[in-house]
Amino acid sequence: MHVFKTKYSVIRYFSFGPRVLFATAALCGLLVAQGCGNKDEPGPSPASASNRMDELTSEQLRNGIGPVTSVDLGEYNPDLANEGQELFKIKCSACHKIDQRYVGPALNDVLSRRTPAYVMNMILNPEEMVKRHPEAKKLLAEYAAPMANQHLTQEEARAIVEFLRNTNNNQSK
Ligand code: HEC
Repeated sequence: MHVFKTKYSVIRYFSFGPRVLFATAALCGLLVAQGCGNKDEPGPSPASASNRMDELTSEQLRNGIGPVTSVDLGEYNPDLANEGQELFKIKCSACHKIDQRYVGPALNDVLSRRTPAYVMNMILNPEEMVKRHPEAKKLLAEYAAPMANQHLTQEEARAIVEFLRNTNNNQSK
C-alpha cells in the first residue's frame, strides 16, 4: 500500500510535471530574451555615443568643435574689422564687453588664449562647444549662463575675429 502510494505520486508528478516545467522554461526564456533585447538595443548605443562625445581630437581641442577647422588670418584687414565691430555691437554686446567681464568673459585678449578657429566655432556652434569642449565647459560652469547662438554666417564670424585682432591686448596672430 505504502509503496503503491509513492509510485502513484511519482506518476502524478510526471503526468503534469513536464507541462509545468515547459511553461516555466518558456516564461524564463521569454524574460531572458526580453532582458537581452533591452540590453542590446538602447544599451550599447548611448554608451558608445558618449564615448565618442568624450574623445576629442587634438585638432578639436585646439580649434574647437564646429564647421571651422582652420583659419589663415593673413594681413590685418581694417574694413573687415569695421564690419566685425558693427556685428559685435548688434549681436554680442548684450553679453560681452571688450575689456571687462559681463554676462560672458571679456574678449579683448581672447585671441591670446584661443585660436581664431576656436573663436569662430564658439560663435557658430556654442551649444555643442559648451557640451563637449573642456575649456568651454569650464566657462559655462564659471559664468553659469550659456552662450547664445546668434546664427551668424561663417563670413560674419570671421569679420568679428578680425575686429577682435585689433582690440587692446590682442597680438595679430
Ligand atoms: C546671451 C549672452 C551671449 C551672447 C549674445 C553672446 N555670448 Fe559669447 N559667451 C557668453 C557666455 C556666458 C560665455 C561663456 C561660456 C558659456 O557659458 O557658454 C561666452 C563665451 C564666448 C566665447 C569664449 C571665450 C573664451 O575665452 O573661450 C567667445 C569667443 C564668445 N563668447 C564670443 C561671442 C561673440 C563674438 C558673440 C556675438 C556673435 C557672442 N559671444 C554672443 C554669452 C553670450
